[in-house]
Amino acid sequence: MEKGEEDCKAHCLILPFPIQGHINPMLQFARRLRHKGIKVTLAATKHVFKSMQEYSGSVSVETISDGFDETGFNGESADEYSSRFRQVGTQTLEELIQKLKSSCCPVDCIIYDPFLPWGLDLAKKLGLVGAAFFTQSCAVDHIYYHAYKGDVKLPLSDSEILIPGLPPLKPSDMPSFLYVHGSYPPLFDIVVSQFQNIEKADWLLFNTFHKLEEEVIDWMAKSSPVKAIGPTIPSMYLDKRLEDDREYGLSFYKPMTGVCMEWLDKRESESVIYVSFGSMAQLRMEEMEELAWGLKMSNKYFLWVVRSSEESKLPKDFAKETGEKGLIVSWCPQLDVLAHKSVGCFITHCGWNSTLEALSSGVPMVAMPQWTDQSTNAKYVMDVWKTGIRAQSDKNGIVRRETIDRCTRQVMEGETGEEMRKNATKWKELAREAVDEGGSSDRNIDEFVSKLVHS
Ligand code: UDX
Repeated sequence: MEKGEEDCKAHCLILPFPIQGHINPMLQFARRLRHKGIKVTLAATKHVFKSMQEYSGSVSVETISDGFDETGFNGESADEYSSRFRQVGTQTLEELIQKLKSSCCPVDCIIYDPFLPWGLDLAKKLGLVGAAFFTQSCAVDHIYYHAYKGDVKLPLSDSEILIPGLPPLKPSDMPSFLYVHGSYPPLFDIVVSQFQNIEKADWLLFNTFHKLEEEVIDWMAKSSPVKAIGPTIPSMYLDKRLEDDREYGLSFYKPMTGVCMEWLDKRESESVIYVSFGSMAQLRMEEMEELAWGLKMSNKYFLWVVRSSEESKLPKDFAKETGEKGLIVSWCPQLDVLAHKSVGCFITHCGWNSTLEALSSGVPMVAMPQWTDQSTNAKYVMDVWKTGIRAQSDKNGIVRRETIDRCTRQVMEGETGEEMRKNATKWKELAREAVDEGGSSDRNIDEFVSKLVHS
């Protein structure tokens, strides 16, 4: 179906927080909705829209303003950003909805990122359906909800944290804003403010699938309209039932596709370590050095994504030292890399998208969480899904080279490695089942669509 060709069964406006890790899962969800005959429009900030010049995807895009049209969100002054976006965003989003009202397909529903709770206020003011779309795991958002309610006492003490629906958690398994209380007050405010008006939401959609987070989903669903609709990975990489569905979504970086795939093609099955820390994490110089020498020490092939802003932290002459053993690129097509038969291990920061992508590709992980939700995701990777191991840092917070070497061996060799690979394959199959026709996520999307069309 081409842009604008669909009948107007219903029209959803998607409002993501303007960072790549939030836009992409929402964009991919939008594509699943389109395949079910729903018209979808993505509301992108002007700054994001500029970075989307090369986006040729099938979802329509319209612009709104966050009040920072030139700079966008850069992680600094998050409180100022949030309050200005609330003010300017509410106004420009309302103008957009009014504009679309005069088209043949007015907006029925706002699917908003709960980092922008005002999206729901606007939906209710205009008499529209309001659906929250959580881009992080159910477990993480459940923790944030308990922090919002004051049930998790901050600062955390050393004792185990018991939250219904979750395994017992150590303080270091908690999201960084809670573990290092006061570390990023404006971002802490954003994550807990997600719940300030949540009781007004008609739907709480989560980018996860039922079997993956069964306990916490069932717990939350007792009291709220929770629906797992993920993983929002292009059909091409998962259920393969939607034609031509290999759109990556939006990337702020240009992938070095040819170089990566040619290099991987030359390697043997499950022999390569893939290393990436997503679109935002900034490693300390010492951390980067230890990682580099750990990879060399492992004597395995590695494909390492080092964004150009991080490049200067690499040890001098490292590429020369490792020669054919390693390939360092500034960005890669991660889903293709994870799907490649030569990849046997993923050293990851455990951003939620990377975690879901690894699980859905059946690749075991070495978890090196950096901040935000990543420690909790790492806890699940190791102790709940058992598809990887968390690399422990020393007292200075640095993962040493010997640890990198040991963890990659544990994941890629011997009985432990075999067990993790078996589990990884199991999760890959369950992820596919969830989004395939009649699977748990597919049924939830159908229910959402059906209520929307008949409301
Ligand atoms: C941010 C947060 O850091 C993360 O913790 C949160 O869960 C989501 O928002 P980010 O750090 O970018 O996201 O990590 P992640 O969620 O893993 O997303 C990275 C995305 O970039 C993935 O979809 C991955 O496929 C893609 N990617 C990464 C590439 O396409 N190529 C690369 O070379 C590296």
